[in-house]
Order: sequence, then structure tokens, then C-alpha cells
Amino acid sequence: MPRAEDVVFPRQRERFEDRRKESRQRKLLDEFFDHGTLLSVSRLVSHGQIDAIDFPISTGKEGGVFRATKGDEFRAVKIYRVANSTFRRLPPYALDELRRESSVRNFGGLIFAWTRREHTILGRLRDAGVRAPVPFGHYRNVLVMEFIGTAEGAAPRLQNAVVDDPEALYEQLVLQIGRMVRDAGLVHGDLSPYNVLWFEDRAVLIDVAQAIPRDHPAAPGLLRRDIANFAKFLGRLGRAVDPEEFLRAVGGDLVGPPKEAT
Ligand SMILES: Nc1ncnc2c1ncn2[C@@H]1O[C@H](COP(=O)(O)OP(=O)(O)O)[C@@H](O)[C@H]1O
Ligand SMILES: [Mg+2]
Repeated sequence: MPRAEDVVFPRQRERFEDRRKESRQRKLLDEFFDHGTLLSVSRLVSHGQIDAIDFPISTGKEGGVFRATKGDEFRAVKIYRVANSTFRRLPPYALDELRRESSVRNFGGLIFAWTRREHTILGRLRDAGVRAPVPFGHYRNVLVMEFIGTAEGAAPRLQNAVVDDPEALYEQLVLQIGRMVRDAGLVHGDLSPYNVLWFEDRAVLIDVAQAIPRDHPAAPGLLRRDIANFAKFLGRLGRAVDPEEFLRAVGGDLVGPPKEAT
């Protein structure tokens, strides 16, 4: 068992003169890197997925995303909390899917299946040509994927990005969501300016674990909601969008249970 400080925030050890910063880091270590999670991280290290976890990009109640290094590349590591996790976001339709896919016996098992699901869906999105992080590997509650950003930092979420050309953003959203629906056959279901990154003039779709097949009965309502979120956002940027037209442009007519032959 490697020591936590060898794989988690190793480069920050010397920079602990600032006591407030130190206690923040300690708190993160306690909250996210319980014994099991540390073992999972060290397994991913020994499998060559990452060398070390550098710093947190985002931390929340259900999990955190960290920047990591592998050789001279960066990677992103998403860790779902096992201890003290409420996992409130888990929507019932996705839970049903999970139960069908795997034999989930307890809460930990559910989180591991959820992590695996995110990895699988990212792979399907990449295969369909959707701009989303490349999935590299996963183990238990830890997912390793492509880092979207540069040495200067992670790409901003659309919510915080400076978008000079809302028309180009609309075209990107139609392209990426359209590929997700038509070519991957999936509806994201939690799409908002918080779950889309803006990087190199492209929309990068993230946070995909709750995506469902487009023929699921819940899919039409979820796609409508995803589209409405962005129609509103684009409206605020000065690009008025008719949600019905947006819906048609992403292949909304393909979404929903197969129609009964009449
Ligand atoms: N692959 C990635 N590269 C860079 N930043 C990321 C990546 N994945 C997630 N992030 C950052 O972490 C935040 C949280 O990730 P997300 O997958 O949305 O998890 P959750 O919303 O469940 O906490 C994102 O809003 C984004 O800022
Ligand atoms: Mg998110």
C-alpha cells in the first residue's frame, strides 16, 4: 500500500507553509481518499493509468474531479465518494438501467457500477464522434479520462466561458448533441451549461453517467429539458432559438419508444 502523499498531491508537499491551504488539502484527503479509494488509485497507478493526482478541479457532494499527470500528459480523474455520499442525483430511470445491467447488491456496488457506466458511455460517445473526454480506465469508484484543458488550467464550463460567437456555439451544440442522439443513440439527460466545457471553439460533453438510450420512455422528456436549458442560455447570449427547431436539428424525431405500427 503506497502512502497517500506519494500519489495524492505529491507536488504540493513543499508548499504547505500556508496553514489554511494545508488544512483544506487535509480535509479533501479525508473526504475523498478513504482507504479503499487510495487502494483503487494506487492500482490505477500500478497499471500505468496515472503517475500521480495533482490537485482538485472540482469537488462536490457526490464526487470530485482531479487533475492528474501521466508522463508528460495530463489526465482527469473522477472519484465518486463512497463514504458520506448521498448520491441523491441518481435518477430512478438510470437506477433501473443499472439494476438490469448488473447485480448491484449494496451501495458500494452501485457506485462502482455507476463509475463503469460512465466509462462505457464515454466510449460510446467517442465511437460516435461526439467530443467528450476519452475514457482511459476505471477501477471501483475511480475513473481516468482525458483532461480537457491546457497546462494553464481546465477548460471552463459554458456557464463560466466567454463565448464571443453564440451562433458558433449553437452550431456546435447541434453537432455534438445531434451525434449523441443519432450516432450514439443516447440522450444525455443532465445537459446544462455546467456539464458542457468550452475548449478550442468546441463544446465538450461531460458528466454522462445518467445518459439513457434514445428509445427509453423517459428519453423524449429528458431531451426536451436538455434542449430547453440551452435554448434559454443561448437566448441570454443574444441568439434566440426556437426549442422545437433545435429539437428537430438534433434528431428529436428519433427519440422515444418505437411507434406502434398502425
Ligand atoms: N475531463 C475533464 N477535464 C477537465 N475538467 C473536467 C473534466 N471532467 C470534469 N471536469 C470538471 O469537473 C467538474 C465536475 O465534473 P462532472 O463530471 O460534471 O461531475 P459532477 O457534476 O458530478 O461533480 C466539471 O464541471 C468540470 O469543471
Ligand atoms: Mg456535472
